[in-house]
Amino acid sequence: MESQTLKSNLVLILDFGSQYTHLITRRIRKLDVFSLCISGTSLLKSITDLNPRVIILSGGPHSVHSDGAPSFPAGFVEYVEEKGVFVLGICYGLQLIVQKLGGEVRIGEKQEYGRMEIEVEWAGGLFGSKAVGDRQSVWMSHGDEVAKLPDGFSVVARSQQGSVAAIENPSRRFYGLQYHPEVTHSPEGMETLRQFLFKVCGITADWKMQDVLEEEIKVIKDMVGSEDHVICALSGGVDSAVAATLVHKAIGDRLHCVFVDNGLLRYKERERVMETFQRDLHLPVTCVDATEQFLSKLKGVIDPEAKRKIIGREFICIFDDFAQDLEHKLGKKPFFLVQGTLYPDVIESCPPPGSGRTHSHTIKSHHNVGGLPKDMKLKLIEPLKLLFKDEVRELGKIMNVPEAFLKRHPFPGPGLAVRVLGDVTEGNALDILRQVDEIFIQSIRDAGLYDSIWQAFAVFLPIRSVGVQGDQRTHSHVVALRAVTSQDGMTADWYNFEHKFLDDVARKICNSIRGVNRVVQDITSKPPSTIEWE
Ligand code: XMP
Repeated sequence: MESQTLKSNLVLILDFGSQYTHLITRRIRKLDVFSLCISGTSLLKSITDLNPRVIILSGGPHSVHSDGAPSFPAGFVEYVEEKGVFVLGICYGLQLIVQKLGGEVRIGEKQEYGRMEIEVEWAGGLFGSKAVGDRQSVWMSHGDEVAKLPDGFSVVARSQQGSVAAIENPSRRFYGLQYHPEVTHSPEGMETLRQFLFKVCGITADWKMQDVLEEEIKVIKDMVGSEDHVICALSGGVDSAVAATLVHKAIGDRLHCVFVDNGLLRYKERERVMETFQRDLHLPVTCVDATEQFLSKLKGVIDPEAKRKIIGREFICIFDDFAQDLEHKLGKKPFFLVQGTLYPDVIESCPPPGSGRTHSHTIKSHHNVGGLPKDMKLKLIEPLKLLFKDEVRELGKIMNVPEAFLKRHPFPGPGLAVRVLGDVTEGNALDILRQVDEIFIQSIRDAGLYDSIWQAFAVFLPIRSVGVQGDQRTHSHVVALRAVTSQDGMTADWYNFEHKFLDDVARKICNSIRGVNRVVQDITSKPPSTIEWE
């Protein structure tokens, strides 16, 4: 992707810490324009190396007057003017432009938060598709306001309270919006972004997933030598499958994938996933049955974090063995490792200025299941590292990864170990859970609800309760059903099924699965709970 990215049409976002910054990136990509987001305090060289056509200065929680208020680097204004780069400041970004170019920003008398009306005062650049006097509803979120514009700037829209809402200086190519055009609460915001990018800056909408695919294949071909071998651990999830499919398209069977059955997979998951890999994706995959290895190590372990650590360690051992076996077979060490890292993981590792967090390149510990052996010295191939999840799904789709696979609910690396509370090896907890889960998920599919739910699953509780089945008293297990809606897994709400649906599922479970006489539903959101139970 890189060479194309650097070619011409890049919209670069300098992040000053707004909660909406990544939304700007996504909105612009939705307009088929490639955009990237880097820290607002990046070195000038990081900006000039990317050679952007447009730079957007994001909002942020700071006041331009506060100590240590983040700003673009020295030489930034000279660079954009010399290169003819267009600059759009949003919220804090607008105030930075005003302050740095000789205007004045003051603490606002009437702070503006939430929905506001603005009125167009000049129907030129930013509001070229509007008439003077047109009103629109926008989302404001600022305490400071513009007191005096820098020379050469004009006000092109004002809020209903009379504050400056939009400014521009076309001859210097500087523009600013005091509100957030990227949020849905600014219903005409996308039109303003479109007007700015296509009419004002003359950007062409030429960023297509098909081009990303071709570009990535080329990058991988250039990177991997013609004799080099590459390995990839497939989890059964979307990201690793799409990443592996892409690499396979580039280098064919010099890619070697491994799928580990750790005994903690869902009902018939190994068969189903292997079939998709082989039949639909034609990926060369070695399936390692490590059920015994994992379950024997987990025997008697009840602490959730201890379970995760054990599972992480076992994965590493198996991966190491796989790499060594390959080395014996091929006569040389595999040189590269494919990882399905996504853009949000990369962004999360580089917190914005002023967030109080330091830069680190560790992906969330639970997402790389324990890390890799230190001495493997593999070079990473991360072909999805500039993409968001929905873009990965789109990429998968054009490579013919089956839609049903692309839309699967997320499944945690430690698998059912975090869904059987307590010792996973006790009794037939895992078997019971697999069957209950299958009934629940199949019922959700049959009811046409699967795609409206972020994640659904059953949980095995290590307690028994009294019941009566077929005139006999029973002392059997309780299972819980969990279904949540979410945008990104960071927060979640419980899914509100119709009572009839729950009634049917509970009956089906109790009538067909021995050892279960009670079904409960988890109705907590995250926070205070988490999505998984352990
Ligand atoms: P929680 O339970 O933290 O889950 O609210 C948020 C999302 O992350 C998944 N998850 C995991 N994924 N290894 C993973 O690969 C883990 O240890 C793990 N724990 C939780 C969870 O399924 C949900 O989608």
